[in-house]
Amino acid sequence: MTHRFRIPIERLLVARLRRELKGLPTPAHLGLIMDGNRRWARSVGVDDIRFGHRAGAEHLDRVLTWCAQAGIDAVSVYVLSADNIAKRDDAQVSFLFHLLETLIPDRLRRPDGLWELHVAGNLDLVPDATARALKEAVGATRGRPRRLTLAVGYDPYGDVVDAVRQVLWDAADRGDSAGDVARTLEPEAIDARVSAPDDDIDLIIRTSGERRLSGCFPWRSVRAELIFCDVYWPGFRELDLLRALRTYGRRRTSLR
Ligand code: IPE
Ligand code: IPE
Ligand code: MG
Repeated sequence: MTHRFRIPIERLLVARLRRELKGLPTPAHLGLIMDGNRRWARSVGVDDIRFGHRAGAEHLDRVLTWCAQAGIDAVSVYVLSADNIAKRDDAQVSFLFHLLETLIPDRLRRPDGLWELHVAGNLDLVPDATARALKEAVGATRGRPRRLTLAVGYDPYGDVVDAVRQVLWDAADRGDSAGDVARTLEPEAIDARVSAPDDDIDLIIRTSGERRLSGCFPWRSVRAELIFCDVYWPGFRELDLLRALRTYGRRRTSLR
């Protein structure tokens, strides 16, 4: 197909998919693993991986607009894991912090924004200025109609262990013993304390062709449908999102 035809055909396909989706269930809570930024940079001939990470951060804004248009109320995005911070080189991690301090909160704070920001993860792992910028964006977006959770410095084990720890501290405050907790502990108590708000994630989409979750919100993803999409995150199109939503809708309908 020549380039001249690519965009109009894509628009037609998007319009058709939007019509098809009207009859199908939509995920209330979508998880996104935005993977493949460095490979995307290389695939377009740029050796500087910062180009890929910047493009990925910019792209998040577009994808969120498509999610809102598709009627999705809550999105949780795996942006940066505690492992990423520990294992990648300092220059790369610093640049990711820079994006989380500037570009991402600036975009989310725009006055016409739809998303109420939440952050899941250990902000002690990020520089003070980055944590401050994210917290300010959380405050500035409070009360907006849709919920966006960004996993930053996120440790999947830590999330669940911290929730259990909180159950134990609350019990200690009430004067309950460890035995009391062991006898009465229900999943709901942990559910209320894990860091991603909202209910279970209905659908997780991971870009870049990798077929694993890499610790994406384990407590919330136990019943999620999983869709692995071969495009790199900055190349993830509305068409790809809507196709994933159609697959989700069909799977959920055929399960009924
Ligand atoms: C995903 O892109 C973003 C982060 C994990 C920070 P990558 O940096 O993992 O890019 P690839 O997957 O190596 O191409
Ligand atoms: C994990 O990042 C997913 C995120 C986007 C945070 P990686 O791209 O580093 O994942 P692995 O290490 O390849 O599983
Ligand atoms: Mg990756």
